Amino acid sequence: MVAQSTATGEGWSSRSAFILAAIGAAVGLGNIWRFPTLAGESGGGAFVIFYIACVFLLGLPLVLSEIFIGKAGQTDAVGSIRKVAQDSNVSEGWGIFGGIGAIAAFLILSFYSVVAGWVLYYVGVFGMDLIQAIGAGDPFRGALMGESQEMIQGRMGDLFANPGLLLAMHLAFMGLTLFIVARGVHSGIEKAATILMPMFFVLLVGITIYGAVVGDLTDTLAFLFTPDWSKLTPTVMNAALGQALFSLSLGVAGLITYGSYIKGSEGLGGTSAMIAVADTGVALLAGMMIFPVVFAVGLDPAAGPTLVFQSLPFAFQSMPAGSLIGFLFFVLILVAAVTSSISLLEVPTAWGIGELGWKRSMSATVFGVGAFVVGIACLLGYNVWSDVRILSFWPLFAETDILDTIDGFTGKVMLPLGALLTSLFVGWRVDRRMVQKVTGLSGGWFALWRFLIAWLCPIAVTIILVTGLFPSILG
Ligand code: TRP
Repeated sequence: MVAQSTATGEGWSSRSAFILAAIGAAVGLGNIWRFPTLAGESGGGAFVIFYIACVFLLGLPLVLSEIFIGKAGQTDAVGSIRKVAQDSNVSEGWGIFGGIGAIAAFLILSFYSVVAGWVLYYVGVFGMDLIQAIGAGDPFRGALMGESQEMIQGRMGDLFANPGLLLAMHLAFMGLTLFIVARGVHSGIEKAATILMPMFFVLLVGITIYGAVVGDLTDTLAFLFTPDWSKLTPTVMNAALGQALFSLSLGVAGLITYGSYIKGSEGLGGTSAMIAVADTGVALLAGMMIFPVVFAVGLDPAAGPTLVFQSLPFAFQSMPAGSLIGFLFFVLILVAAVTSSISLLEVPTAWGIGELGWKRSMSATVFGVGAFVVGIACLLGYNVWSDVRILSFWPLFAETDILDTIDGFTGKVMLPLGALLTSLFVGWRVDRRMVQKVTGLSGGWFALWRFLIAWLCPIAVTIILVTGLFPSILG
């Protein structure tokens, strides 16, 4: 590893540190909460197969492109795009999509921390239950014994009705995120990833095996992998494409930022493939972890966003060691969320350092506190501000609460827009020899990548953008 100087002067200590951090950024609430929710709502197999196609045909070429820009630019997203543009003799105005990305990352972080706060609350609920179980001399009992289904499922509504509790959880999660990012790339982000990711994988494999043993794996595999193509409607395809972008952390310059801390000269093809494979593998394993338990208790796989927070806690009541496994399950989601939220905060933080000349601690604090404040609006949208519609003039968001509006606006507008601009920039404007040199791609792989990034991505992403914005086109 040859040290080079960057605007932030920081870098990963090894190739594997970068890979772990990037996988940490990709694997998050998107894999464990959103993917099973969508797969369940969309009827399983056909969605899953279409999703996998999106990841490898659209997502993977974009992952490579973002990392390429960062590695070539060696500074924050805006600066890196400008540098690549300069070296290719095209307008530096392309830098603007780095700025849009930083704003999008900031907005995603604001509600991501609120949802992660719900997870933290359930870690607390199951943690206390586990302590009681141990105190009662029965650590392997089911979860929340003696509580009715209504009580267990009502917890979520009680939490949502309690702004103080939501705020405390949001504050704790954002505080942790800010603490890690303020410590820097090496002693903050990289260290968190190298400790948390191995822990995450052990928990994931362990709970998946548990689910297979005590739950209903046969039904799960049939549900997840037997396609009923009639269920693959345009709306479902649209959701699958959007989910692929979100899950791979694409479209908001997150991987540009992480890529800019690469110091070595390694090729990027294998690295990008590892990130895409790991992210998709985790999403599928999360499905194989959650649905066996859901099916074993005869619950509805199409429960929607409450699947993880209402259905699962109830299911854990009748499962062997449900208290312990429930606790570990929510710890697992929390770990995944932390390694993602730090990547979201790092994008605007690096921008503040690179473009405004701020110190890291100051930049991280400004954006961390800012996202915390926006997040407060999101959580109040569940109680005191439940009637507020921030984009009420826009039919698509006329009925959605504050959190869903910011989620929908970033996911349906900003993320696809960022991905579209990335593919047009890298596919059409950037000097090809630079791409080959920095990525190490050549021959057939390069030709394949170029076809996907220059043709398939712009066309498919435009379709997502348009159909996402004007769902009435889909009929
Ligand atoms: N990919 C993460 C998840 O699945 C979320 C995330 C982290 C993200 N960084 C991002 C989403 C950047 C979009 C852009 O939970």
